[in-house]
Amino acid sequence: MATRRAKISVIGAGNVGATCAHWAAAKELGDIVLLEIPDRADFARGKALDLACCGPIEGFDSRILGTSDYKDIAGSDVVVITAGMPRKPGMSRDDLIQVNVKIVKDVSEKVREYAPDSVVIVVSNPLDAMVYTAWKITGFPTHRVMGQAGALDVARFKTFLSFELGCSVEDITALLLGGHGDDMVPLPRLTSVGGIPITDLLPAERIAACVERAKVGGGEIVKLMGTSAYYAPASGTIQMVESIVRDKKRIIPSAVYCESEFGVAPGASGKGYFVGVPAVLGAKGVEKVVTFAMTPDEQKLMDESVSHVKDLVSAVVKLFPELA
Ligand code: NAI
Ligand code: 2OP
Repeated sequence: MATRRAKISVIGAGNVGATCAHWAAAKELGDIVLLEIPDRADFARGKALDLACCGPIEGFDSRILGTSDYKDIAGSDVVVITAGMPRKPGMSRDDLIQVNVKIVKDVSEKVREYAPDSVVIVVSNPLDAMVYTAWKITGFPTHRVMGQAGALDVARFKTFLSFELGCSVEDITALLLGGHGDDMVPLPRLTSVGGIPITDLLPAERIAACVERAKVGGGEIVKLMGTSAYYAPASGTIQMVESIVRDKKRIIPSAVYCESEFGVAPGASGKGYFVGVPAVLGAKGVEKVVTFAMTPDEQKLMDESVSHVKDLVSAVVKLFPELA
C-alpha cells in the first residue's frame, strides 16, 4: 500500500525559495510547490521544471510544481514563506519591515485560506517580526508557526569554529539563542567538539572572534555578493522541514512562541514573542521548547536580544495597527 507523500509549499521562488525546493527535492522529502506572484509564474514554472529534470540524475521522484495559483498549495503539510525583499549592502534586516510586512501579510492570508492545516515556517526578514506577522494573520495555533534563523546562525558558528580548528563540522555541537539580528546569542559554554568543551580547545579570543563572525555572518555575505545569502539559509530551513515531515523530533534552534521561557515576558498586549530558542520539531510543528538555566551573563545578552525583537514587533504594530 502506498504511503502518502508529504507536501511542501514554498512561497517565493527567488534565491532562498528555489534553493529550499532544491534541498527538499535532493532529500526527497515530498512533493514540492513553488509559488510566485503572477508576473513571475513562468519563472517559478521554469525553476520547477529545471529542478524536476535533476530527478533522474539525483534519484528523486518528488513532483515539483511551479505556479502562482494558491489552490495548488491545498493540503500542504508545511508552507515555507520566503516571499519578500532581501537586503542590499548597507541595509540592515530591519530596513525591510515596511515592504516585507505587506508581502508576508498578503501571503499569510492566502495560507490561512488554502492551507489551513499546515505548519508554517517563515524565512522572510526581519525574521522575528515576520513570524509574528504570519502568526497574527493566519491565526494558527502557536505550535504551527515558527521562523528559521537559529538553524542558519548556529551552522555559521560551527563553520567558523571548524575553520579555526581544522576539524570536521560533524563533530561540533553548538547552541545559539535570541533574535535573528547582530545581537543573537551564541553560547560557547554549551559548545563542544567531539564531546570536549570548546573552551578547552581554543583560547577565549579565538572563540570570541568566531562568535562575532557568526553574528555578522549574514552581512559579510551581503557585502561580498550584493544580496543576501541563500544556500545556508535554505539548508537550515529544510533541516526544519525534514524534522517535521519525517517527525524526527530534532532539537533545532528556531524562532518559536515564548511567553515565559528564557526570561521572555509578555508585552502590553498580554501576548508573548517569537524568539530563537531550542525547539523540538516534529509532525505537530513545535512540540516542545527545551529550557535550561542560563548564567547571569548569558541572560543579560538574551534580554538585550529579546528587547530588540520587542522593538521590531512594536515597529510593525506602529506601521500596521491591525497587527496589534
Ligand atoms: P529574492 O528577491 O531572490 O526572492 C524573493 C522572491 O519573493 C521573489 O522571487 C519575489 O518575486 C517573491 N515575492 C515577492 N512578493 C511575493 C508575494 N506576495 N507572493 C509570492 N512571492 C513573492 O530574495 P531571497 O534572497 O530569496 O530572500 C527572500 C527573503 O528571505 C528576504 O526577505 C531575505 O531577507 C530573507 N532571508 C532570510 C534569512 C533567514 O535566515 N531568515 C536568510 C536569507 C534571506
Ligand atoms: C542572513 O542572515 C540576510 O538573514 C539573512 O544571511
